[in-house]
Amino acid sequence: MLFHIALLLLLLLAPCTFCLNQEGLILQKIKLNFDDPDNFFSDWNELDETPCKWRGVTCDTVSHSVTSLDFSNANLAGPFPAYLLCRMRNLNFISFFNNSVNSTLTESDLVACQSLVHLDLAQNLLTGGLPSSVAELVNLEYLDLTGNNFSGEIPASFGTFRQLEVLGLVENLLDGTIPAFLGNISTLKQLNLSYNPFLPGKIPPELGNLTNLETLWLTQCNLIDEIPDSLGRLGRLTDLDLALNGLDGSIPSSLTELTSVVQIELYNNSLSGELPANGWSKMTALRRIDVSMNELTGTIPTELCELPLESLNLYENSLEGDLPESIAKSTNLYELRLFQNHLTGTLPKDLGKNSALLWLDVSSNNFSGEIPAYLCEKGVLLEALMIDNSLTGEIPATLGQCRSLNRIRLANNNLSGTIPEGLWGLPHVSLLDLKSNSFSGVIAKTIGGASNLSSLILSRNRFSGNIPEEIGFLGNLLEFSGDENVFSGSLPGKIVNLGQLGKLDLHDNALSGELPEGIYSWKKLNELNLANNDLAGNIPREIGSLSVLNYLDLSGNRFSGKIPNELQNLKLNQFNLSNNRLSGDIPPLYAKVMYKNSFLGNPGLCGDIEGLCDGRSDAAHGYAWLLRLIFVLAALVLIVGVVWFYWKYRNFGKVKRAVDKSKWTLMSFHKLGFSEYEILDALDEDNVIGSGSSGKVYKVVLSNGEVVAVKKLWGSSKIADESIDVEKGNVQDDGFAAEVETLGKIRHKNIVKLWCCCTTRDCKLLVYEYMPNGGLGDLLHSTKSGLLDWPIRYKIAMDAAEGLAYLHHDCVPPIVHRDVKSNNILLDGDFGARVADFGVAKVVDANGKGAKSMSVIAGSCGYIAPEYAYTLRVNEKSDIYSFGVVILELVTGRLPVDPEYGEKDLVKWVCTTLDQKGIDHVIDTKLDSCFKEDMCKVLNIGLLCTSPLPINRPSMRRVVKMLQEIGRGNHLKNASTKDGKLTPYYYEDASDQGSVA
Ligand SMILES: *[C@@H]1O[C@H](CO)[C@@H](O)[C@H](O)[C@H]1NC(C)=O
Repeated sequence: MLFHIALLLLLLLAPCTFCLNQEGLILQKIKLNFDDPDNFFSDWNELDETPCKWRGVTCDTVSHSVTSLDFSNANLAGPFPAYLLCRMRNLNFISFFNNSVNSTLTESDLVACQSLVHLDLAQNLLTGGLPSSVAELVNLEYLDLTGNNFSGEIPASFGTFRQLEVLGLVENLLDGTIPAFLGNISTLKQLNLSYNPFLPGKIPPELGNLTNLETLWLTQCNLIDEIPDSLGRLGRLTDLDLALNGLDGSIPSSLTELTSVVQIELYNNSLSGELPANGWSKMTALRRIDVSMNELTGTIPTELCELPLESLNLYENSLEGDLPESIAKSTNLYELRLFQNHLTGTLPKDLGKNSALLWLDVSSNNFSGEIPAYLCEKGVLLEALMIDNSLTGEIPATLGQCRSLNRIRLANNNLSGTIPEGLWGLPHVSLLDLKSNSFSGVIAKTIGGASNLSSLILSRNRFSGNIPEEIGFLGNLLEFSGDENVFSGSLPGKIVNLGQLGKLDLHDNALSGELPEGIYSWKKLNELNLANNDLAGNIPREIGSLSVLNYLDLSGNRFSGKIPNELQNLKLNQFNLSNNRLSGDIPPLYAKVMYKNSFLGNPGLCGDIEGLCDGRSDAAHGYAWLLRLIFVLAALVLIVGVVWFYWKYRNFGKVKRAVDKSKWTLMSFHKLGFSEYEILDALDEDNVIGSGSSGKVYKVVLSNGEVVAVKKLWGSSKIADESIDVEKGNVQDDGFAAEVETLGKIRHKNIVKLWCCCTTRDCKLLVYEYMPNGGLGDLLHSTKSGLLDWPIRYKIAMDAAEGLAYLHHDCVPPIVHRDVKSNNILLDGDFGARVADFGVAKVVDANGKGAKSMSVIAGSCGYIAPEYAYTLRVNEKSDIYSFGVVILELVTGRLPVDPEYGEKDLVKWVCTTLDQKGIDHVIDTKLDSCFKEDMCKVLNIGLLCTSPLPINRPSMRRVVKMLQEIGRGNHLKNASTKDGKLTPYYYEDASDQGSVA
């Protein structure tokens, strides 16, 4: 019976299988050739007669033969099935764009595809040399092999294409130089060779023969020397991009003969000199000019501004003089970026009147006069960036109606008057920066409509009146800085609705009343500064529940009542309640001398801090007498004691003078198997293994076979005693005291053990456990970096993260390391990592010491968090930033700073390289690519940690969690090498580079 059914089925199916035509059968084989995780081929039904309705397949309507195969973005993996494809005689279009085609192309592979017109294999994993035989495809017009791993030189046959219009070889591993024979492909319209590791070479003058060329894209091709004059012959060129090369000389005057260039990008070369003043008038079709970031000097030629330009980018040069009025005449102009030059004069008053201006950035120049009134005439302006100029007058009323605006930055000018009412409430504005002008008037209630506002910066103006309740509607507000104005009245009750708020700075205003209720909803508040106002009432307990608050300044107000004990929950870097009317006890955690300055000027406040409430009240006065008496007596006893001890000691010294070492005092933190003398004897210059900013490090092998590292701090008692160099002396002392104090107390597997320390009048020694593999940085950036494969690097990241997380979260009080860097992560014999060198570590809430530590730069070049530049404050978030840099080092194998990055540091380099070239150019080539997925994830953590905004950085505990998750994922599934495209977590647009306020 079963047999009969099977037979029946076979009879039913068999004829239909034969129905499928020949090409359908070929395609079924092609289907089998690929891994198809996304089921791209799901509708390729074998029971159809033709493949013509299958996804990706197009047939000739008459003959039903396959003419086109479009497998773009299908996520297919497998070798390129050239042999099968070429059996379809009428096939003229093949696209495998953005898949994982991963074979090499052999010479004979494509010769049979004689009908081929369009071949797109861009963004795949093809390897090997370029197949020279493709040049034999006489009909080929389009060849794109961008984004593969093709290597070797461009084959000579490539000079013989007959119909080729587009040649794309961008982002491969091609070497050799750009060959002159490409100048023979006379049909070529686009030649895109950017981002290949070519050898240094000139632009072949022969490329000037490509008279049909419209696009010439040679970014980062290792081009040197001058731009050949012959390029002036490319009469149809619309887009010329030679950025990121080593070209020099000036822009050849012949380029002005390019009558149809739309876009010229020449940034980041060493082009210098002036923009040619003449010749521009011939370039009547020129629309876009970008020569930003060179070293151009001189003025902006008027002739150039008379062109009907769409885009003019001249930023980051040294241009001077006026911006010609004529620029405003262009009816096409949508982009004008001139930031960071030395331009003067007024901005053209008709700017924006004749064209749909989108982007205007004239920041950091010396422009004066008023803001042009027509900027938003066409109603599309997105950005008005004009910080750091000398602009005067009022903001034109028209800007208040400009509903398209995203970003408004007018800081550091001499602008005045009131703000147009509409400007406050523009619905798309995310940044409104009016800092340091002379603006006056009130914040209008219309501000409630600014639903996208994230930064409202009004500092240092003359704004007045109440802060309107409507501010509470701004659910996206991250920063509200209104310091140094004359705001009055009480804080609006609704201000507590700002759940995203990270910074609220209203110091130096005339605010009064009490703090509003419900402050606990400021869950993300980092900084609260209300100093020097007229605020009164109690300090609300709720402040203690703001878990990320680390800056609290309520000084110079009229707050009264007790200091709530809940404040002890906070980890504060800045803590100031001075000059209020507080009374009662100080919470025990803060009742320490180092917090004294936080409480000064509160007559009723009595803690156990000496000198705080100098007996102002009568009762205290009486006791003070008694205290003083006791103190004097105690001092007398002490002096007598010391004198007695001295006599005694002198005698003792006469006997034992020979043994100088007896003067050593030993402070040990662990049970020791050695004596200090043994160490002293071994401090030999031969044993020096390193030398840091605070001292030399010796390796000492003890008699019991144990090895220790001994750090001898610089300097002698003379310097310290006589304070020849007070600054230095302080640093040394702090370094020693801090290191001993913090490290001695700590026991953690990922923190270097301090065995003991020895001190004399002349010398200070710290004895650590010895770490045979030394500093991570030294190893990672040496020839031995091959020892560190990915699993080891991952483990190191994990270990160091756990060490830091312990310091931040488990130590009481928490410890900020302040100098996290790869060389302060030491490796033991098994490459286990431990955090070391607390020379500049600081207990977080040791606020009293904070002031002193500011004079000492904490941290090392390349690792310092950006906010340090303007806050000079160091907290856990800055450690996390530095740790992020270490992660980036681990993933990229690169130094944190390197002349190769130009102005950038590693963080910026990673971001731009990711953005422009992709992940493969970022990760260390020495690492096995089968871990790519994990590396991407770890890199992402590194990028998170180095977020420019401290608030966006994850805590160390979170970092540990995330790293653990990656490790766990590893056990579950094998590393699959899908081309992991990575988007950086943040993106800085170019205009901001010039507008860092
Ligand atoms: C190409 O991809 C297929 C499918 O994922 C895989 O089985 C094969 O090993 C890969 N070949 C190469 C050379 O990587």
